[in-house]
Amino acid sequence: GQSETTITITVVGASGDLAKKKIFPALFALFYENFLPKHFTIFGYARSKLTDEELRNLISETLTCRIDKKENCKDKMEEFLQRCFYHSGQYNSEEDFLELDKKLNEKEVDRLPNRLFYLSIPPNIFVDVVRCASRCASSPTGWTRVIVEKPFGRDSKSSGELTQRLKQYLTEDQIFRIDHYLGKELVENLSVLRFSNLVFEPLWSRQYIRNVQLIFSEDFGTEGRGGYFDNYGIIRDIMQNHLLQILALFAMEPPVSLGAEDIRNEKVKVLRSMRVLQLDDVVVGQYKGHSKGGKAFPAYTDDPTVPKNSLTPTFAASALFIDNARWDGVPFLMKAGKALHSRRAEIRVQFRHVPGNLYRRNFGTDLDKATNELVIRVQPDEAIYLKINNKIPGLSMRLDSSNLNLLYSAK
Ligand code: BG6
Repeated sequence: GQSETTITITVVGASGDLAKKKIFPALFALFYENFLPKHFTIFGYARSKLTDEELRNLISETLTCRIDKKENCKDKMEEFLQRCFYHSGQYNSEEDFLELDKKLNEKEVDRLPNRLFYLSIPPNIFVDVVRCASRCASSPTGWTRVIVEKPFGRDSKSSGELTQRLKQYLTEDQIFRIDHYLGKELVENLSVLRFSNLVFEPLWSRQYIRNVQLIFSEDFGTEGRGGYFDNYGIIRDIMQNHLLQILALFAMEPPVSLGAEDIRNEKVKVLRSMRVLQLDDVVVGQYKGHSKGGKAFPAYTDDPTVPKNSLTPTFAASALFIDNARWDGVPFLMKAGKALHSRRAEIRVQFRHVPGNLYRRNFGTDLDKATNELVIRVQPDEAIYLKINNKIPGLSMRLDSSNLNLLYSAK
């Protein structure tokens, strides 16, 4: 009988940007670190006509191994690629999904089959795919689950409608909404930093923190992704999800346990305590073209996939407030933008002044220079560092700010 389980993961939208850049490399990383079950098969599903071999070639270019574990990287990649297959079909065709179902059955042989569909596709076809997959390619005896990425609608109303429509075919516990920033090493580490060290949590409130900055910037523009981006803008693309998730984890009370539901409950409490954003507390902008060092950088509206008269923001900054006992009056400053001068994502925690600082003379008039700052750099070059004031060694009493530095690459 079906004593052993097997899982098939179907990446719908396999030839797209997201699948190539993130999903296949992430699946390989799971395989490489032995986090996939013993029996698994991966299917790419998309409209383009590709053979299994062509899909493998496409994916193989983007797979990487961790630098510190390079050994048998090539073998592992080959092993992984042999488990990848391709099925070409339309996103709204039940017949095409029935064909997929046949192929899945063949791979599952006699084992108890679980099936996961990863929707790496534009949101306007989510419901079609879910309808076809659930009607024609659900697991007969095991579980069937679907992973969706944002945007989950454009606003609360359309997000509710999307959920309603998905629920015609799936129950809530079959739907997994993903925010890929939650998988970043330093975002996962936030709770560890707060709750497993004595020295941070007592400082984690309005009593000691002056402001918290959540910063996302990219040094490239939309570059062909304008078709998607122009309908959403930077607030829906980055702030409302990635930065808000980080904010909620940063600001939440200690959860009852590390269970998903307990953490979710605390995050919801943070969101419900947030003050409605005031227009006066928001600045938006859009990047223009410029040239530097003889190189021309296009404006947002130069992107051929963007309407010439678009007013969609590619930059936004805002001050958010959490009106609860812990954070009353502390601004959470969010900044996000595309085509800026650097690519980085970080959290900056700026602490208050030392009351009656004996060394204030040493800092002249700029007392801000004397405050401590904790920086959690999510990317690139993951790091955590704390700015502290130190005496410059020698006979004088000069002070300087230095970093207590945990640079991940140096570990
Ligand atoms: C995506 C956004 O969610 O995140 C993109 O839609 C953005 O606009 C991307 O470029 C950034 O992710 P990462 O992991 O490359 O920082």
